Amino acid sequence: MRVTTHPTRPIAGQKPGTSGLRKKTRVFMEPHYLENFVQALFNALHGAEGKTFVLGGDGRYFNDRAAQVILRMAAAQGAERVIVGQGALLSTPAASHLIRARRTDGGIILSASHNPGGADEDFGIKFNTPNGGPAAEAITTAIHAETERLSEYRILEAHDIDLSHIGTHDLAGMVVEVVDPVADYAALMEELFDFDAIRGLFRSGFRMKFDAMHAITGPYAAHILEHMLGAPMGTVVNATPQPDFGGHHPDPNPTHARLLYEHLMGDHAPEFGAASDGDGDRNMILGRGIYVSPSDSLAVIAANAHLAPGWSGGLRGVARSMPTSRAVDRVAAARGWDAYATPTGWKFFGSLLDSGRVSLCGEESFGTGADHVREKDGLWAVLMWLNILAHRRQSVAEVLADHWREYGRDYYSRHDYEGVDAAGAAALMDALRGRLDALAGTVAGPLTVSGARDFAYTDPVDGATATGQGLEIDFEGGARAVLRLSGTGTEGATLRVYLERPEAALDLDPARALEPVVQAVAALADIAGHTGRTAPDVVT
Ligand code: G1P
Ligand code: ZN
Repeated sequence: MRVTTHPTRPIAGQKPGTSGLRKKTRVFMEPHYLENFVQALFNALHGAEGKTFVLGGDGRYFNDRAAQVILRMAAAQGAERVIVGQGALLSTPAASHLIRARRTDGGIILSASHNPGGADEDFGIKFNTPNGGPAAEAITTAIHAETERLSEYRILEAHDIDLSHIGTHDLAGMVVEVVDPVADYAALMEELFDFDAIRGLFRSGFRMKFDAMHAITGPYAAHILEHMLGAPMGTVVNATPQPDFGGHHPDPNPTHARLLYEHLMGDHAPEFGAASDGDGDRNMILGRGIYVSPSDSLAVIAANAHLAPGWSGGLRGVARSMPTSRAVDRVAAARGWDAYATPTGWKFFGSLLDSGRVSLCGEESFGTGADHVREKDGLWAVLMWLNILAHRRQSVAEVLADHWREYGRDYYSRHDYEGVDAAGAAALMDALRGRLDALAGTVAGPLTVSGARDFAYTDPVDGATATGQGLEIDFEGGARAVLRLSGTGTEGATLRVYLERPEAALDLDPARALEPVVQAVAALADIAGHTGRTAPDVVT
């Protein structure tokens, strides 16, 4: 086996965002594309010599090929060891855990999260640092800079490693350790949650459906729910990861997990339903006849986390992304915890978790997590809910009703306008941004603006700043709207409008309760005029 140094040239556009480098799969399959990026990554880390990395992905098309290339490149740079999930599979939270538990130098995760997979869909690669979390901006900037001055990459000429069995291989002096992708994660969950109580819940006849959406959480959920916790076989559906996720969007929301949603709203609904996304970090929670908005889920978890052994001592503090509803703030205020509002994106939670300021965090975009890893964690949220239901012996609807009675209710929804013309979306934001300072006192449809700002954030730990993180508009009476452009889309622009309204009446239809806020946004932002759209594509 010998190392080849391939001459190469920079490829434009290899700029990793908050969730790594995401492109069409065929772009990643172009000559040198993946190799260039991986070499730039190793260069940005000042080499890989003597280092240990974790490697795995969500099983989407090209996952297996990319893993083999990365192994040969790591070996060529003199890495000491790569710990890789069997079949090159690892969910994002399981990868985060392994990176931490094995005290590695970081990990490479192959995924485009909830985006569709396949030769004509999306692929992605992301680097997580030794704390288990997504690389901070300084590192992604350094990787991008390396991609722009790359002149060669080094790769070992070798046959594929057999990743289908657990065991170790020698790759020109580098150890390739193939591990069970589920085992360590399952052991962690067993430490954090009251598995005896959850077993008792299933023994008592409690039934649930978990939709793995043909993605990575299938093996994790089947093992933990059906084998360890005694849920009946068949509890986990769509459990075998497929390269194209069965041709669906592996995104756990009422639109893309429609069958599960309808099942839970139907006549023969089980007590509980849940789904997770492509790489296993997102979650959707449903009860019989009821949808739990991610913002409410975060608040309920905050209020009940002490029922789980992992957080029996209480929480240190909580964090949410700015557009997430303020439901969790109400719990924090009642319990005397610090509550942080960060820009959108999981990476902003890292320093708060690392410094011990918060133990729980979440986003309205179906992301919930805690200090056990440094990624959001879909199955963790599901187990937390099971732990809560096992201890409280209430239905999901009763848990929510009690929660709102105790803390109050924030009606909440997000409207997405997907694939809109980028220039139109930018013009909309620019126009509104330009008027922000003058908005206070403006009558907007049925509401009056009380204040508005372009959200900026200073990390309380390292002082790093982020500006332009979304336009936040407050209305008299406590309602709020946030407008921001997506940073993760791959086509055109996606405008996200977040709507929130606290209301004393607890059993309104959320869409009706939010109608005044929708009208106020329409009066302020002229979405139709700028984008040509009269209705959102996705409502969550
Ligand atoms: C979206 C979500 C955001 C999440 C990110 C990665 O980003 O809104 O909360 O952190 O995906 O999963 P956006 O497309 O809005 O930039
Ligand atoms: Zn994801």
